[in-house]
Amino acid sequence: MTTTSEIAAPETIKTVLLGVTGCIGAYKACEILRGLQKRGVRVKVVMTEHATHFVDPLTFRSLTHEKVAVDLFDDPTDPIHHISLADEADLFLIAPCTANVMAKLAAGIGDDLLTTTALAVTAPVVLAPAANVHMYENPITQRNMNALHDFGFKFVEAGEGYLACGYQGRGRMADPELIVDYVMEQLEGASTAKGQDLNGTPAVLGQDEDGALSASVRDLEGKKVMVTAGPTVEPIDPVRYISNHSSGKFGYAIAAAAAERGAEVTLVSGPVSLDAPAGVNVVRVTTACEMLEAAGKAFADADLAIFAAAVADVRPANPFNRKMKKGTDDAALAAIELVENPDILKTLATAKDQQFVVGFAAETDHVVENATKKLKRKNANLIVANQVGGGRAFGQNDNEIMFVEAGGASEPVSGTKAQLAQVLLDRVAPQL
Ligand code: CTP
Repeated sequence: MTTTSEIAAPETIKTVLLGVTGCIGAYKACEILRGLQKRGVRVKVVMTEHATHFVDPLTFRSLTHEKVAVDLFDDPTDPIHHISLADEADLFLIAPCTANVMAKLAAGIGDDLLTTTALAVTAPVVLAPAANVHMYENPITQRNMNALHDFGFKFVEAGEGYLACGYQGRGRMADPELIVDYVMEQLEGASTAKGQDLNGTPAVLGQDEDGALSASVRDLEGKKVMVTAGPTVEPIDPVRYISNHSSGKFGYAIAAAAAERGAEVTLVSGPVSLDAPAGVNVVRVTTACEMLEAAGKAFADADLAIFAAAVADVRPANPFNRKMKKGTDDAALAAIELVENPDILKTLATAKDQQFVVGFAAETDHVVENATKKLKRKNANLIVANQVGGGRAFGQNDNEIMFVEAGGASEPVSGTKAQLAQVLLDRVAPQL
């Protein structure tokens, strides 16, 4: 049997405090717990009393081999239990997090061990909300979530789907795998800031000449940064569309990193299920034409413009305003006329002035050659190139990029998206 202590050396183990609150999604916390343990993380669990009605604390105790904290006064050996729990955490994840607990957190209420610990914790707090769709969309819940955003809480937002209450809509806790990925990115980002990666290797990514780490550098103070991210969605009719699989993760990581470094950031985002990064102004759009318009506004006075969006190449020329029906509308569906979308990067960069322009190039072959062509054709200052598809030559790691500029191409750099966002900004900041 593999135990957490066999996965990573003791001195490198990170501790995630997993808060479980009372809703049917509580059982999924077990999957999150196992996912984190498999990635070398030590997990301690704190539950609300209501959560114990859904999953017995014994389940978590068996999985973690640690005491499971429920009651403020349940550890006689530790008179200030919430403080010791809070101090141990490198990150506090509350998953699932009910609307009620979000309301208490937003109001600063600590009336049980979990909420008191949340008040005491200084590590990042990540919430994965779960609620009935009406409770989730209730303006009071939305107001509480916005307030928590502003206080620096991070979210893995709930997805849409069938809910245990029988309703369909937003409110289902995000997939455990997504939550684990997000937590790992947060932990790895924090490790980079402390000069260590999760394996205990001194971080080489994101250091400036003095060895100071990017995450603590405020070198974009006073700068305006515009980032495009995510896919665009081009309607065929009210229910069908043309789009792609872009998750928007890299663009969001770049926007978050730029804001951390002091920039005023506008993120023009296509439809994605990602949380707005702290301190970033997010403009949500759907189509390429809307993205061009929003990006154009932010581009005008930007110092740095980064085009990470996966813009759909084409759109239906005349979207139908009613749902097309099989049988009756087959001929119309078969004859959909497509027109090319505007090239947002090229359109804006062609008229660039003070802006430093960064584009992306995902290529299956001749990466440097194709990226260099894109650099010229789109009038960019730098292209972030990565190899995609079966013929990957560089790309042992999922996140591996090269910088292509007029002077040539850099060596490949690999890391998490959060780390690569910092490396990109390290490269660009001195050129602004
Ligand atoms: N881009 C854009 N608007 C478009 C298409 C692309 O702003 N309509 C931007 C992307 O955000 C990216 C860069 O252009 O920064 C390159 O995108 P990519 O899809 O790789 O290139 P294409 O121009 O579509 O060229 P090709 O399909 O030949 O690779």
